[in-house]
Amino acid sequence: MINIPKGTKDVLPSDSYKWQYVEDVFKKVARTFNLNEIRTPTFEHTELFLRGVGDTTDIVNKEMYTFLDKGERSITLKPEGTAGVGRCYIESGLASELMPLKMYYITPCFRYEKPQAGRLREFHQFGVELYGSSAPSIDAEAIAIVDNIFKALGISNIKLLINSIGCKKCRSAYNEALVEYYKPKLDNMCPTCRERINTNPLRILDCKESACIEINKNAPSILDYLCDECHDHFEKTKSYLTSAKIDFEIDSRIVRGLDYYTKTIFEFVSMNIGSQGTVCGGGRYDGLVEELGGKPTQAVGFALGIERLLMLMTAVNIEIPKPFSNEVYFATMGEKASKLAFLYANKLRNMGLITEVDHMDRTFKSQFKYANKINSKFVVSIGDDEMENNFLKIKDMENYTEKQLTFDEFEGLMLGDKDNFIRSLK
Ligand code: HAM
Repeated sequence: MINIPKGTKDVLPSDSYKWQYVEDVFKKVARTFNLNEIRTPTFEHTELFLRGVGDTTDIVNKEMYTFLDKGERSITLKPEGTAGVGRCYIESGLASELMPLKMYYITPCFRYEKPQAGRLREFHQFGVELYGSSAPSIDAEAIAIVDNIFKALGISNIKLLINSIGCKKCRSAYNEALVEYYKPKLDNMCPTCRERINTNPLRILDCKESACIEINKNAPSILDYLCDECHDHFEKTKSYLTSAKIDFEIDSRIVRGLDYYTKTIFEFVSMNIGSQGTVCGGGRYDGLVEELGGKPTQAVGFALGIERLLMLMTAVNIEIPKPFSNEVYFATMGEKASKLAFLYANKLRNMGLITEVDHMDRTFKSQFKYANKINSKFVVSIGDDEMENNFLKIKDMENYTEKQLTFDEFEGLMLGDKDNFIRSLK
């Protein structure tokens, strides 16, 4: 018996409709914002994430699935979707497209984390990346996309936290303030943070160790160090959110776990799914494309974790509609009838009807039972008598009525459209 790897999950046939449902909602909402889908590879050169996500982040330091391929290249399974999109933007010359360039993706991601509820080693993201605009309205638009998705799914109990972590300019003043604040407290901080103070003091704010969490409570706030431009950008972004009646809270403690962010960052957090409550995270990242070797390019985006979203929908009792059930079932006796049903069933499928025939050699009686279990609306039965006398019986399973048609009559109906066909079966 070979088991599933730790931190991964199967999506079973009886559950996949939930995934299809939320993915349909993502795609529909994406269309209303005029986004087009982008697909990038599941693995990239490791260097992309070292430079993109940042080599002082936990994702890069501890969590990447990295291996040498047979050509001795260092390859990494994508831990997130943004860096790959940035690479593609440069490599495919997307800068020459009409701006803003608005893209979305649905992708598996891989992080070697300690699995727990809502934290997997393979998980899935719906992500959005909006390129080419510095306008605060587009930061607000990224947030509005998530807000509309939650509305479309019927989710209301979720908090939007926003912050600004400024640009390079204001960050250096803030970093100095952080170093000043942490230096006398180093002895009480975790070993990683003692290093972070030299490499990337901002990362300390994201530390999950209890001692550091305590110390972080009184750390200086980035919002007091924003330069005029970043301050103004943050104020305007907030005013667009207010104008769209999107509620938010300012949380100057959020820094996000990836290094590429500048200015606006945000998270949607739920209290209903335990400690891994961040369902969606994102922000502006004006430095990424340049960091990856392209021209300076403004960009903002987010990613929403699909497993956490589905957990949340279950936790707050949002029922996902089951897809259509079977419309026509052919119950047959004998090979001749079975072949005729096989032909008819295929014609009905070509018309767009969900149609089933027997593949289990069931008795006539148990074929009816099966049809009932799969919620067939109609059962068309063709037994010996019917075969001999050129007719078939149609049972309406919802109204318990029955009628008979000759094969010719039935075939005539199949020449019309789907709705007429169904009406005439009743
Ligand atoms: P992130 O915050 O690392 O951001 O991940 C986004 C979302 O992915 C999280 O809010 C969570 O729902 C889900 N997620 C992350 N790790 C796991 C895990 N181990 N198990 C289950 N779900 C997880 C990013 O990935 C950025 N690329 C977002 C972005 C796009 N920023 C700008 N553009």
